[in-house]
Amino acid sequence: MASPTGSIALPQATGLRARGQSLWDAWSVPHSAARNFIYSATFWVALTDTMGLVTSTEFVDPDLFGGIPWMEFGRMRSMHVNGVAFLWLSMGYAGAFFYIISKLSGRPLYSERLGNITMLLWNIWGVALILTLGAGLTQGREYAEAIWPLDIMFLVILGLIAFNIFMTLASRVEPRLYVSAWYIIGAMVWFPNVYAIGNVVWNPPYGSLQGINDATWNWFYGHNILGLWFTTGGVAIAYYMIPAITRTPVYSHLLSMVGFWTLGLFYTMVGQHHLLQTPTPGWLKTVATLGSISLFVPVLTFITNIFMTMRGNWQKIYESVPLKFVVTGVIFYLITCIQGPFQATQGFNRLIHFTQWIIGHAHLALLGAFTFILMGACYYIIPVTLGRRIYSIKLAEAQFWLMTLGFLGFFISLQIAGLIQGACWMTTNHSVYWCLTAIRPYLIARSVSGALMVSGGWIQIYNLYKTATAGQYISSVSGPAAADAGGL
Ligand code: HEM
Ligand code: HEM
Repeated sequence: MASPTGSIALPQATGLRARGQSLWDAWSVPHSAARNFIYSATFWVALTDTMGLVTSTEFVDPDLFGGIPWMEFGRMRSMHVNGVAFLWLSMGYAGAFFYIISKLSGRPLYSERLGNITMLLWNIWGVALILTLGAGLTQGREYAEAIWPLDIMFLVILGLIAFNIFMTLASRVEPRLYVSAWYIIGAMVWFPNVYAIGNVVWNPPYGSLQGINDATWNWFYGHNILGLWFTTGGVAIAYYMIPAITRTPVYSHLLSMVGFWTLGLFYTMVGQHHLLQTPTPGWLKTVATLGSISLFVPVLTFITNIFMTMRGNWQKIYESVPLKFVVTGVIFYLITCIQGPFQATQGFNRLIHFTQWIIGHAHLALLGAFTFILMGACYYIIPVTLGRRIYSIKLAEAQFWLMTLGFLGFFISLQIAGLIQGACWMTTNHSVYWCLTAIRPYLIARSVSGALMVSGGWIQIYNLYKTATAGQYISSVSGPAAADAGGL
């Protein structure tokens, strides 16, 4: 079976585009599509994280940007959320998938040029998305805010990416599929379908159903993109990166398959756990709670598999920056999924639903778990495909610690603020003004720690740019030194 642990011949490619080389030629260079997707995602995370920081300051001083329409809370928030979800994580995933699928197939990507054209289209789509949201053009449904023409364009882009990936797989020389390939196939089949159905694309003016039914529909979609795209993609990347960097085969293929099929089964049941405090059918809420608890099966199979693969390899996290990011992301994923089922019980949900606790959980998942995993993948794929070392390990380490400490400050302050808010809602002893004053210090702490993470995002741009243009060349890498390019 093709697995990530084989030796890697490094290409010694030039960074961005060689002098005198036309763009058309540069776009046919092996792994160029993967790299260009990752460069784009790196730019978008720095920009849209900064928008998150701006949004957070408006909790501290609501009038800070008063009078500037596109900087108002409602618009900044949606630019931030859509940006990190669809321009950072999703573009980064597409880049990582191109690289991983070509390695696991033992074949080059079916079409580098098509990959690069989809990269360009996705960036154009991203600019249009940010501009329309900034102008207040939105369909107003969370994670489905893009207007109809953008929905259609996005579906075309996803279709082209899926085509490129499936054609690469069809030409593979390795008959058996490694687990990451299963997850990538799942993600590329599920995501476009879930996006089209969830955005109600057959109803262009509104992109929605009517009334309370639309809430259920929206959250069926909302949770499916979390479970069948962000989780599936992040797990695929972690399953590739950890064996590749540690040069250790994955502990159990069977366990990984149990995780894959149970993820597909249980994730689709849980959308209603976002609506436990609404007048929607009780049986749907019960199904969602049971499904949420059942998610322990795919989660624990994944965690067990990763931790068993890491047996004897833990010291390598001190030596490899990419491994450090990915393993930290896996640990945050475990914490997310311990927290999640408790949140899905009616009693606890009543306390935390309308509070900052949920924002803490959302960031634990998409920032703590999947942003860390993807940052690790960026620091692995760019050096390995260029045959260069990371430009500055010190800066990459600094980024890791800014992200980790920043995230912990961010998360802990929101959890405390959430519990204070919840206690206020559930008692009549305190007015809303008392409550808002009580949580203010924690919201300030959130902005300060958020600023640390934002600086991490800008460091990544600089370090990857310098890696591509001035990183030291390495001749060839095999065995344990494969992780060399990624930082050993
Ligand atoms: C790549 C990193 C990030 C990801 C993936 C991310 C993701 C998200 C998501 C999914 C939401 C919606 C949460 C919900 O509705 O439950 C959100 C909201 C938000 N994020 Fe981020 N975020 C990131 C970084 C940041 C940073 C660095 C800050 C800076 C302080 C920040 C501040 C905010 C704020 C203020 C909101 C609005 C919260 C609210 O409405 O109460 N985010 N983010
Ligand atoms: C065992 C796994 C998990 C369970 C049972 C779970 C459960 C929940 C529950 C009950 C809520 C709160 C809904 C509310 O009261 O508003 C929630 C919110 C959320 N979860 Fe999870 N979660 C899990 C894992 C994840 C993962 C892996 C991700 C990311 C891929 C994720 C992303 C989110 C986000 C973004 C929100 C906020 C949604 C919003 O209101 O905008 N969760 N989760």
